[in-house]
Amino acid sequence: MKGLIIVGSAKVDSHTKGLARYLQGRFKDHEMEAEIFDLADRPIHQLDVSGASEPPETYQQNLTDLREKAREADFFVLGTPNYHGSFSGILKNALDHLTMDDFKMKPVGLVGNSGGIVSTEPLSHLRLIVRTLLGIAVPTQIATHDSDFEQLDDGSYYLNNDEFQLRAKLFVDQIVSFAQNSPYEHLK
Ligand SMILES: Cc1cc2nc3c(=O)[nH]c(=O)nc-3n(C[C@H](O)[C@H](O)[C@H](O)COP(=O)(O)O)c2cc1C
Repeated sequence: MKGLIIVGSAKVDSHTKGLARYLQGRFKDHEMEAEIFDLADRPIHQLDVSGASEPPETYQQNLTDLREKAREADFFVLGTPNYHGSFSGILKNALDHLTMDDFKMKPVGLVGNSGGIVSTEPLSHLRLIVRTLLGIAVPTQIATHDSDFEQLDDGSYYLNNDEFQLRAKLFVDQIVSFAQNSPYEHLK
């Protein structure tokens, strides 16, 4: 059983990535692999339904990988920075490249980070998208602030807040429980 954590920040080594790494560790506690797909490290091209554009080969390869990993994933975490009161366009573009077949009846956790006033609105907006993709967004979500993180020597961020670490445990427990019990397996 394995999951995919999609990080939608425009910043390499973002706070959201730091949060994703922390969650990855908590999934490991359950002996579950959760791979991080960071869209800042592995950008994909803008959706072009007409097919007129010629995206760079690396972008195309990143998209192929994302699609494969999404199709194989048993659960998702969607991670986003707060951009103008919502989730990032980068993440929306990635989701637009995916389909209901990737998300149908799979548990999805939502996490986000704000630099200004902490907001859960980006996660509420994502919840609607997940429903449209027929995924099951778990009730617990995590909305952090920059100040909940410490920067490590290599410039990456680490979640350094007891309350959120506890919340992360509950968050992961819900996703794992859902993934293991697959209550809607027969509806896939
Ligand atoms: C385009 C853009 C829009 C932003 N809009 C908001 C906002 O509406 N509210 C807020 O609190 N922070 C906003 N920020 C600040 C980010 O939330 C902040 O930089 C945060 O650290 C991003 O997290 P990250 O390191 O995971 O990318 C914005 C940043 C950018 C680049």
